[in-house]
Amino acid sequence: MSEAASPIVATHNLTLRFGGALIVDDVSLAVPEGMFVSIIGPNGAGKTSFFNLLSGLYKPSAGSVVFRGEDVTGLSPSARARRGLGRSFQLTTIFPGLSTLENARLAVQASHPGNAVFWKSAARDRAAKERAAWALETVGLAGRGAVPAAALAHGDKRKLDLALLLCAEPEVLLLDEPTAGVGAEEVPVMLETIRRIRRVEGKTILMVEHKMDVVHDLSDRVAVLANGALVAYDTPDAVMADPFVRSAYLGVA
Ligand SMILES: Nc1ncnc2c1ncn2[C@@H]1O[C@H](COP(=O)(O)OP(=O)(O)OP(=O)(O)O)[C@@H](O)[C@H]1O
Ligand SMILES: [Mg+2]
Repeated sequence: MSEAASPIVATHNLTLRFGGALIVDDVSLAVPEGMFVSIIGPNGAGKTSFFNLLSGLYKPSAGSVVFRGEDVTGLSPSARARRGLGRSFQLTTIFPGLSTLENARLAVQASHPGNAVFWKSAARDRAAKERAAWALETVGLAGRGAVPAAALAHGDKRKLDLALLLCAEPEVLLLDEPTAGVGAEEVPVMLETIRRIRRVEGKTILMVEHKMDVVHDLSDRVAVLANGALVAYDTPDAVMADPFVRSAYLGVA
C-alpha cells in the first residue's frame, strides 16, 4: 500500500454549518485504497457529521467529496452506496419481524434497486441468498439465520448491522463507533470481525471510535477532529505522541 496511491475517497475543504455553528471546518482528507483510518476527537467534534457528509446524508455548506476520482458531492446516499461508498454503520435498518437471513437478503436486494428483471432470475435470487449467508457468516451470525431479528441480543444486532452493510458490497465502509453498546465480552469478537473484513476483503475502512487501544490496534492512520477541524492525520504512534493531541484530546499533559 503506497502513500502515493490515488485516494479512493477524498474530501476537499469540506465544510458544514448548522445555523451559525461551524460543525465541520474546511476538512481536506485523502484516504488511499485499502487503508484503515480511524477518526477520533472529543464528543461533538463533528465526527458523525463528517461521516454524514461522506455518505450523503448531509449536504456540505462548502467543499466536495470525491470517490474514485468522481465528484459525488451532489449524489444521494443511495447513489453513493451503489458506487461503493458505504453508508454509515448506524444507518442500516433492521426489520425486527423478519429473520436474520431475510434481513440480509433484503439488504442485498436493496443494493440493486429498480432492477426488477434482476430479481426475476432464479440464479440471481440464489446469488442474493448466497451473498446474505456469506455476510452472516463473516460477522459470526451463521447459526442465527432463522432467528427473528427482534430476538437477537444487542451485540448480535450490532453484528447484523455490520452484515447488512456488507450485503451492499461497499468498497469503503464507514463504521461509526462499531463497538458502542456491545458488551465487554463481545468487543473482541466485533473487532476480530472488522479485522477479518479488512484482511480478507481488502476493504477501505473509516472508523469513528473512542476506545484508544482499539484505534491503535486497527488503524494505519488516525485523523483527529477538534471543533470540526482536522488537526492531525498520521500513524497511530505519531498521533498519540503529538503534544497537541495529547493535551487537547487525550487529556494528558
Ligand atoms: N442535524 C443537526 N442539526 C444541528 N446540529 C447538529 C446536527 N447534527 C450534529 N449537530 C451538531 O454538530 C456538532 C457535532 O456533532 P457530531 O454528532 O458530528 O459530533 P461527534 O464528533 O460525532 O460526537 P460524539 O463523539 O458525541 O458522537 C454538535 O455540536 C451537534 O450538536
Ligand atoms: Mg458521533
